[in-house]
Amino acid sequence: MLKAIMWEKEGVYILDQRQLPEKVAYIKCKNYEDVAEAIENLSIRGAPAIGIAAAMAVALAVRKINAKSPQSLFDKLEPVFDRILNTRPTAVNIRWAIDRLKMLINKNQHLKVDELKELIIKEAIKIHEEDVEINRRIGEHALPLFKEKCTVMTYCNAGSLATGGYGTATAPMYLAKQKGINFRVFACETRPVLQGARITSFELMQAGIDVTLIPDNTAGVLLKKGIIDFVIVGTDRTVRNGDVANKIGTYSLAVLCKENKVPFYVAAPTSSIDLTIQSGDDIPIEERTPEEVIKIKNVKIAPDGVKALNLAFDVTPAKYISAIITEKGVFLPKHIKYINDSKKLEELRQNL
Ligand code: MRU
Repeated sequence: MLKAIMWEKEGVYILDQRQLPEKVAYIKCKNYEDVAEAIENLSIRGAPAIGIAAAMAVALAVRKINAKSPQSLFDKLEPVFDRILNTRPTAVNIRWAIDRLKMLINKNQHLKVDELKELIIKEAIKIHEEDVEINRRIGEHALPLFKEKCTVMTYCNAGSLATGGYGTATAPMYLAKQKGINFRVFACETRPVLQGARITSFELMQAGIDVTLIPDNTAGVLLKKGIIDFVIVGTDRTVRNGDVANKIGTYSLAVLCKENKVPFYVAAPTSSIDLTIQSGDDIPIEERTPEEVIKIKNVKIAPDGVKALNLAFDVTPAKYISAIITEKGVFLPKHIKYINDSKKLEELRQNL
């Protein structure tokens, strides 16, 4: 399976997802600025993948910093943290990764600078490795949804290429395929930049999964006909009240699911959960260049001078979500606020 990002001695290799599916090409990032640009221009995208990229950007930066003490290393990293945090605002995974590294540095002030640098690099690699395992666990928790001959719909790309591996929404698909379960997937193309068409259909086809691509506006009729057993998507940020931000259009799909009584599931690593925010109304929503709406793959599809609005994400209120599937188990959106309370989680599990 193709990897979205790889740490190598000479730098960080990022799969240039803008060129998929026509071309599989990696960008070699030698410094943190290269990684920041790759995040901004969507060479790497997907909440967990950009969290990993953020950590690796910091790891690249520490190699180049001359510092006499751990505190001075931290101080010299401040502009790096700021640069990375300002690349894309909606996915909380970037902040999660940066906070994890900041904590690591603060806890290890007794180390020599070189030892601390080594520790930071190891931690970035660990964040990547852990993400693969977390997604596999999400896949196991979601697997019981995959009954023989079921039909599933997904949106955008919450796939292997949006993460360290397996994906979140796609993790149960890969596991179901391994177990020999027959199922098919409808992938919505996901305007404006077509992550569903270019990336999800590509990676599912590579894995031999039966995938059918549909224009976004075909979802409604399939849901109404009753041929979709459930919809499963990813998220960039899930907040205390169970509201989730995900790719623009997710909200419409969730409303269509409710109207047609089709379960709507969200697959989320806990690194995408932000308990500092109470409601989805307060999630920062990225607005990208109108160019992405006016052009498809650099071909203009609208008149010169037309105005265009390009909100990259929307918020799906908790009331439309049947369950949120994390590496810790399957939860109702209203229970997300307990995600760090292991006693409460155990109690909820027993009462399921
Ligand atoms: O703009 P993108 O391609 O980064 O948006 C990605 C999504 O919306 C994904 O669904 C989300 O990040 C979850 S990825 C597991």
